[in-house]
Amino acid sequence: MATTPPAEPGLSVRGVSLRFGGITVLDDVSFDAPRGGILGLVGPNGAGKTSLFNCISGHYQPTAGSILVGGTETVRTPAWRMARLGLARTFQHPALRLDATVLENVMLGAHSWLPGGPVSWALRLPTTRRHERQARDRALELLERTGLGWAAHTPADELSHGLHKGVELCRALLSRPSLLLLDEPAAGLSHGEVEALISTVREVRQEFDLTVVVVEHHMGLISALTDRVVVLDHGAKLMEGTAAEAQSDPRVVEAYLGKEVGAA
Ligand SMILES: Nc1ncnc2c1ncn2[C@@H]1O[C@H](COP(=O)(O)OP(=O)(O)OP(=O)(O)O)[C@@H](O)[C@H]1O
Ligand SMILES: [Mg+2]
Repeated sequence: MATTPPAEPGLSVRGVSLRFGGITVLDDVSFDAPRGGILGLVGPNGAGKTSLFNCISGHYQPTAGSILVGGTETVRTPAWRMARLGLARTFQHPALRLDATVLENVMLGAHSWLPGGPVSWALRLPTTRRHERQARDRALELLERTGLGWAAHTPADELSHGLHKGVELCRALLSRPSLLLLDEPAAGLSHGEVEALISTVREVRQEFDLTVVVVEHHMGLISALTDRVVVLDHGAKLMEGTAAEAQSDPRVVEAYLGKEVGAA
């Protein structure tokens, strides 16, 4: 009897190592992020979480291993092409165009799917203008739903660091991703803003059928959002399980060296 093959994971990391000179930053890391799920990536400072994101997004080239996005090998794909493969990310330290408005910053996320190129954009052909309008409407809609609609026409440098994270999230979502990487999205946010972020990520995951991988030290957010977590320590995978299993695992507690693993 014919059976439907299981869906490819949204992200598959297989045996990824990364070395800079004599320093091992990632050591044979493997895990899958199930399609449509939310996976947490946690670990102490310097564990290699951002470096792993950089490998997945094409900013770093792993020394060894394989990375599949929706079943497609991407290890040798440069960062600028990853958006077309459905990947979007936010950064631990957001880097917005500070002289541009919030809306203009979000609109940058549309470049992966806006048809044409610099020439048709410069000529402002009718089809280009129509697509631009669509992108602009969508950008405004995303800003509204993340509570940033009021800031659309404000220069980015007038917004707080926490709000820059929200702008980056909108920019990432405007690229119509299938895989979203969030690097410490809650850093610098107030309690209320973290609650709002949790709701937004849940909603957009469902609406866009996204696979999400989130790096976060805020264990309250990790417990509320994720189905599973992978714990990294010194570049190696320490364990994988639920957030509750991770927080009670003695190896994880030891890795954090007494830092409050369960603290929100
Ligand atoms: N380009 C690079 N060259 C040399 N070393 C690097 C480079 N990028 C990262 N590293 C090193 O890799 C290690 C892991 O850093 P990484 O930023 O990935 O950790 P992290 O888990 O994201 O930490 P944090 O929680 O503080 O953000 C660190 O020791 C860092 O100095
Ligand atoms: Mg980091």
